[in-house]
Amino acid sequence: MDADAPFWLSAPAYWLPAHYPTSAWLTHAAFAAWIVDALRPQAIVELGTHYGFSCFAFAEASKRLGISTRISALDTWEGDDHAGFYDDDVFAYVQEVARTDYPDSVRLVRGRFDESRSRFDDSSVDLLHIDGRHGYEDVLADYSDWRGTVRDGGVILFHDIAERSRGFGVWRLWEELAVPGRSFAFEHGHGLGVLSVGEPVTPALRCLFEADAATAALIRSDFEHLGESAARQAWLLTLPRELEQVRAEVHDRAAHEEVQAGEIEAQRTHIDALTRSTSWRLTAPLRALGARLPRRK
Ligand SMILES: C[S@@+](CC[C@H](N)C(=O)[O-])C[C@H]1O[C@@H](n2cnc3c(N)ncnc32)[C@H](O)[C@@H]1O
Repeated sequence: MDADAPFWLSAPAYWLPAHYPTSAWLTHAAFAAWIVDALRPQAIVELGTHYGFSCFAFAEASKRLGISTRISALDTWEGDDHAGFYDDDVFAYVQEVARTDYPDSVRLVRGRFDESRSRFDDSSVDLLHIDGRHGYEDVLADYSDWRGTVRDGGVILFHDIAERSRGFGVWRLWEELAVPGRSFAFEHGHGLGVLSVGEPVTPALRCLFEADAATAALIRSDFEHLGESAARQAWLLTLPRELEQVRAEVHDRAAHEEVQAGEIEAQRTHIDALTRSTSWRLTAPLRALGARLPRRK
């Protein structure tokens, strides 16, 4: 990396995640790696993990940086009316990736967020990611319950601060919490709010929170472009599966057409046999007479 590169273009910002499950968080992977490098967190708590994209993005960055980070991923793994409800295959997938790739860092905590709160000490968390249900009351409750777990100088991330469709209210809480010098907002990927708890202590984070308008615009634009690489990678990885689906459809259609061709051939043979039969030949005069009779209107 160029020693004169701006502070936000660190090497981890260019890293790609190792896993690409379905997620609305894809374009924030670059920032996830950047903030793990900037903050060097020992404890991350995530409220809302679903297929695990954001959790694994944090875990992969910690692993590559050689930081021993404990990432607690909280979810009912049942879904909600925003993310959609889903079955146990999702939890099985997350469990498998966590067990295989991040056995020392990722801990899955299944249950409602409020039920798990007492398992976390106050001021014990460096990075809290809030990405549960997105109504104003929901995110306010998650923030109020969990804010105390974050140490001074730690960071809280809010996903969906730019989502204004019906039922989404993270933007409203963000407007109440964001203060100059202690917050930064990304607009892309449904929006990601970055909030400092107390005074930011790490130099890179101080620079982020204190960026002037022109620098902030560059940071937003660069992370949007860097984030697109992850989204493109995710799309590329879906192609072999899609190709397989198209192949299967073409195969099914060809088989169906073969069956139809066989049926047509059988009908033709039947008609040929009928027209050659004795009864057909004997009834020929009657058909000729019928053809000459005037047609009924
Ligand atoms: C938007 S998804 C999380 C997306 C994930 N961060 C990603 O990277 O794709 C929200 C998840 O929060 C979970 N959830 C919502 N409210 C919850 C609550 N009160 N307790 C536990 N889980 C909850 C849902 O089950 C859902 O899987």
